[in-house]
Amino acid sequence: MVSYKDLGLVNSRELFKKAINGGYAIPAFNFNNMEQMQAIIQACVETKSPVILQVSSGARKYANQTILRYMAQGGVEYAKELGCNIPIVLHLDHGDSFELCKSCIEYGFSSVMIDGSSKPYEENVELTRKVVEYAHKYDVTVEGELGVLAGVEDDVKAESHTYTRPEEVEDFVSKTGVDSLAISIGTSHGAYKFKPGQKPEIRLDILHEIEKRIPGFPIVLHGSSSVPQDIVAEINHYGGHLKDSIGIPEDQLREAAKSAVCKINIDSDGRLAMTAAIRKVLVEHPEEFDPRKYLGPARDKLKQLYIHKINNVLGSNDKI
Ligand code: G3H
Ligand code: 13P
Ligand code: ZN
Repeated sequence: MVSYKDLGLVNSRELFKKAINGGYAIPAFNFNNMEQMQAIIQACVETKSPVILQVSSGARKYANQTILRYMAQGGVEYAKELGCNIPIVLHLDHGDSFELCKSCIEYGFSSVMIDGSSKPYEENVELTRKVVEYAHKYDVTVEGELGVLAGVEDDVKAESHTYTRPEEVEDFVSKTGVDSLAISIGTSHGAYKFKPGQKPEIRLDILHEIEKRIPGFPIVLHGSSSVPQDIVAEINHYGGHLKDSIGIPEDQLREAAKSAVCKINIDSDGRLAMTAAIRKVLVEHPEEFDPRKYLGPARDKLKQLYIHKINNVLGSNDKI
């Protein structure tokens, strides 16, 4: 068992308190490799933003749990080396079992999500409460979820949204003891959130109704990539075949970040940025075969994307 405190990480409690009071959201960026980790740390140090490093169970399998733990620790030390000791949370994204959450806590995670959103309400409450009881013994914070997002996550696909029911949130939060709550208000996972012709809209009215029922309680938005059209065009220009894809407008996310939404999850936009940069290098320089020659530009493009999100969408710059 390794405590996240010994790795220099923090849990999300204080960060969320400050974010709610300050009208901004903490970025939760997914990572599974070194270049993503470097880009996240570089961007957050440069903007002086706290950050949540997010690992899905698929990412954990891909990268290996021991390597991830040292990468997160490396991230903490790297930030210091760059001259800024930013608060860093290591968070399990979409944990699907008590055992996985427990194992992540044993490997140094400071925060876990237990996602029981696809289960019947009472089962979700039961599972979430069990994880909270365990996690709180180690001062690890827990995110739960109510309502189901459309889209794909770890190969699980939901065709349509089931919006969070505001009348359930108070009961869920008090019965489970969770530290934050992910809600479904029209965001969705992946690059294909809306079809061409559809008007992208998140249900801020449901968000405000939820806020009224649990004032000051930290709310989390998943599926918050915006699918930048210039990046999609660049991918297709360099030989990609992405269908028309539309994400969540950044101004709507900015609006949400001013409320009790204090964590915004972004993964797909980063994947798109890296892919665009890699395709460009490989098409323009087909003679290249040194991975650093394409992973380096991919890392730089990712860093620029994160800086943009922090400054213009989350508002978490200069909040350390
Ligand atoms: O919500 C899902 C995240 O984007 C992680 O995706 O399960 O493919 O690693 P993944
Ligand atoms: P996106 O697919 O919109 O980036 O959402 C990521 C996410 O919610 C991770 O949990
Ligand atoms: Zn998610």
